Amino acid sequence: METHGSESYFVIGEGLLSESVNGRARTLSAAVEAATPPFRFSRMGPRGTALGEANRKKIANAMTAGGGGSSDIPAGYTYLGQFVDHDLTFDKTSVMLGQNIAPAQLLQGRSPSLDLDSLYGAGPSDAASAKFYKDDRHLKMGKTVAIDPDPAHDGHDLPRGAGTTQNQKRKAVIPDLRNDENLAVAQTHLAFIRFHNRIVDTLPSSVPAAQRFAKARELAAKHYQWMLRHDYLTRICAAAVVNDVFNNGRKAFEVGVPATDVPTMPIEFSVAAFRLGHSMIRRDYNWNARFPGHQGTLDFLFLFSATSGDPALGGEKRLPSNWIADWRRMYDFKGEAGKDNLAAPGGVNKAMRIDTLLVNPLRNLPTGSFGGPGVDFNDPTANLAFRNLMRARMVRLATGQQMVRFLKNKGVNVTALTSAQIRNGKNGAALDALTPTQRQAVVRDTPLWFYILREAEINNGKLKGVGARIVAETFHRAMQGSADSIVRDPAFRPKFGPDNNTFRMVDLLLFAFEGKKALLAPLQ
Ligand code: HEM
Repeated sequence: METHGSESYFVIGEGLLSESVNGRARTLSAAVEAATPPFRFSRMGPRGTALGEANRKKIANAMTAGGGGSSDIPAGYTYLGQFVDHDLTFDKTSVMLGQNIAPAQLLQGRSPSLDLDSLYGAGPSDAASAKFYKDDRHLKMGKTVAIDPDPAHDGHDLPRGAGTTQNQKRKAVIPDLRNDENLAVAQTHLAFIRFHNRIVDTLPSSVPAAQRFAKARELAAKHYQWMLRHDYLTRICAAAVVNDVFNNGRKAFEVGVPATDVPTMPIEFSVAAFRLGHSMIRRDYNWNARFPGHQGTLDFLFLFSATSGDPALGGEKRLPSNWIADWRRMYDFKGEAGKDNLAAPGGVNKAMRIDTLLVNPLRNLPTGSFGGPGVDFNDPTANLAFRNLMRARMVRLATGQQMVRFLKNKGVNVTALTSAQIRNGKNGAALDALTPTQRQAVVRDTPLWFYILREAEINNGKLKGVGARIVAETFHRAMQGSADSIVRDPAFRPKFGPDNNTFRMVDLLLFAFEGKKALLAPLQ
């Protein structure tokens, strides 16, 4: 599966919900596939009513009309979010083809967890995953293509080159090809490869050879979860909600289940709440020394990936050197980690504010990003906002109002948005093009994704209320159900940050790139 979203949803207790027969690509033999559920989604709240198609089209147009402002969240977190989504929804059975999978493992493999399986596949000793590894413990990295004046840089592209045709060779050799959907998520994946490899290299010599991979993986997964819980989540959600869920437990989702039971993925998270990331995407980036200011456009980030690029990688065999990320421009090393020598030339890119507006290029997605077929300019099928609203109708997702009632019944303290807040928002999508009847319908039965983004918009760009609760509870459960889990190991403390209570994305990158400017920003 190369596209980032699912075409069909297998919802426990309801079966397969889809518009077409083309669900996820088959990953096992037909017989096993038929007997096994695909990725396990679940429904947290009630079934909902969807708005009519004409109404959804108008809302989608309003959401992609352009405009909108920045947040104070460094833009790297946008693509960390996309990387996390792929980790959560990674279908591990696709990399376990070579081996005999026990039914319990199959379920586990088709369940959400925050265990970096999109990075590791099934590990170096598994026949189908061995290709991702350089040796029995290090993950492979790739080399960029020299572009005058920039020489080829080893370790700055995803590994590529397998297969026979030119196109196959361009494909990344990583477990989850969705992480090559755009250059920013691809370079994020590469940073995680480096993170793992560096942990391997710095393990004490007392760790026996046979245990070095497993030990490094455990440390990587737990540090990653710590960073998500303390750094990522509190940037996108109201901290009070995140702290409440992690300190006092869940109230709405899989409450009281045994911690090691196989988790499921609520469609309210997948089809609505976590699509918040779409609103953080910028139309251009101050990317690196060769593409500063506004020159690192989203279109280029698509082009220089193998999944969305047309031609893939801009026609090169591997990433051209002049597109290597400058991490100083995506995360704030100076402001947050006090690294004055890593100040970003031209300033750190900031993600767009989390609100009901998406940047205009998302009205016309590249075909590769949603799996095609190619469509005319401004066709709603290529409009990301319309796709999200269409998907919600397909799975009969609860409305914002229904989720408020549902959460209240579960004892969660949420304040419903007023009709005026839903209608007018705060410098977000303007619903002026809707007829009065259509507007009334939106205010009464608000699509959950739109509702959650309006909540954030009114809360200065941070998820609150319904949105924050769904996101925090889903992350909590996905960490709890992971093989390595900070929820089940409350004594865990990070050791790769400045102290044993701090581990942020800047610390992860500093560790992964050895704190060196020459690695964090190779182009000068
Ligand atoms: C340039 C960046 C991105 C592009 C082009 C993109 C595009 C897409 C597309 C085409 C879909 C499928 C829509 C559908 O047919 O249902 C999708 C699904 C989704 N996206 Fe994104 N996206 C991007 C970034 C992000 C980010 C930053 C996040 C979160 C932080 C995110 C979260 C999701 C989620 C949760 C889904 C549903 C996944 C599933 O089906 O299980 N996306 N995205």
